[in-house]
Amino acid sequence: MAQNKKDDDLDYETTGHSWDGIQEYNKPLPRWWLWTFYACIVWGIGYTIAYPAWPGINKATAGILGFSTRAEVAEDIARVEQANAAINEKLATVELASISDDPELMSYANNAGGAVFRTWCAQCHGSGAAGAKGYPNLLDNDWLWGGTVEDIHTTITVGIRNPDVDEDWQRISEMPAFGDGLLEEPQIDAVVNYVMSLSGDPQDASKVAEGEQVYLDNCASCHGEDAAGDRMQGAPNLSDAIWLYGGDYDTLHETVTYARYGVMPNWNTRLSEAEIRAVATYVHGLGGGE
Ligand code: HEC
Ligand code: HEC
Repeated sequence: MAQNKKDDDLDYETTGHSWDGIQEYNKPLPRWWLWTFYACIVWGIGYTIAYPAWPGINKATAGILGFSTRAEVAEDIARVEQANAAINEKLATVELASISDDPELMSYANNAGGAVFRTWCAQCHGSGAAGAKGYPNLLDNDWLWGGTVEDIHTTITVGIRNPDVDEDWQRISEMPAFGDGLLEEPQIDAVVNYVMSLSGDPQDASKVAEGEQVYLDNCASCHGEDAAGDRMQGAPNLSDAIWLYGGDYDTLHETVTYARYGVMPNWNTRLSEAEIRAVATYVHGLGGGE
């Protein structure tokens, strides 16, 4: 029988083990492999000395090169800020209304504003800016506080019903809770029917006339005699079938009884003037801007 070639390899010892007659040579590792292995160990030790490596309780060892991904990001950000410094300066200082006359500035503002919006505004107004109950849709041309780029800029700067800003800033009006002794339940019922009649079907048409009187006495001062709303007070238009909180009987009843108190933070302490202008330009350009 032909011998297996390996059986001739008698220069090497075996490990001495035998499994059912199968033995194993005790051959050394190839040189190239062994040296690569040692080199890896040396490199690994060097690396853990040079770079952050060993985890500690609060943070890892710093490494003698002082490298940190955080510092790298900070450097990147600084570089971008440096590159954009001139255009940001321009954006922050030109007349707001003239931004749209400068195509380069306009396109920068829209891009930067979109990024600001996705970071700071989308959680309330929705990533597509379509809003949700209590959070206005910013895509349509129905504005509580005004839809010119100046109005939007002011709204973003000072926030809405924000106790931290100066009262002179105007965005602080508040609807009273009419269920708090101001109106009786039958009057609330009637005025809700009247409000529903403005944009669609009242729940009970026989109450509309009475409701109109309640409306004129209690609501017209803010929402207007024609119910078209008042932007000075952020009082919504009640005649257009666009609802911030909802136009069904139950929701309207709740709104009139308890009132609403929509709050938006001011952004002038968090965003730079250039960022506020960028996001105002972006929102203005979404479709409903005036
Ligand atoms: C914490 C939630 C919240 C965040 C975050 C937020 N908003 Fe608002 N925003 C509101 C609410 C609530 C209102 C409506 C207040 C009211 O009832 O008048 C509003 C109203 C507005 C209005 C007025 C709309 C109108 O019809 O006049 C604009 C413009 C606006 N937000 C833009 C922004 C921008 C831009 C950002 C990001 C920088 C932002 N908002 C972030 C909650 C938020
Ligand atoms: C002092 C001014 C003021 C008066 C008076 C007032 N409102 Fe309002 N109303 C507001 C403001 C401001 C809002 C917006 C509240 C918010 O966004 O949080 C509002 C919101 C509403 C809404 C919600 C609209 C929507 O789109 O969901 C309804 C409905 C409403 N008012 C009806 C009435 C009725 C009916 C009366 C009279 C019984 C009345 N209001 C009196 C200021 C007023």
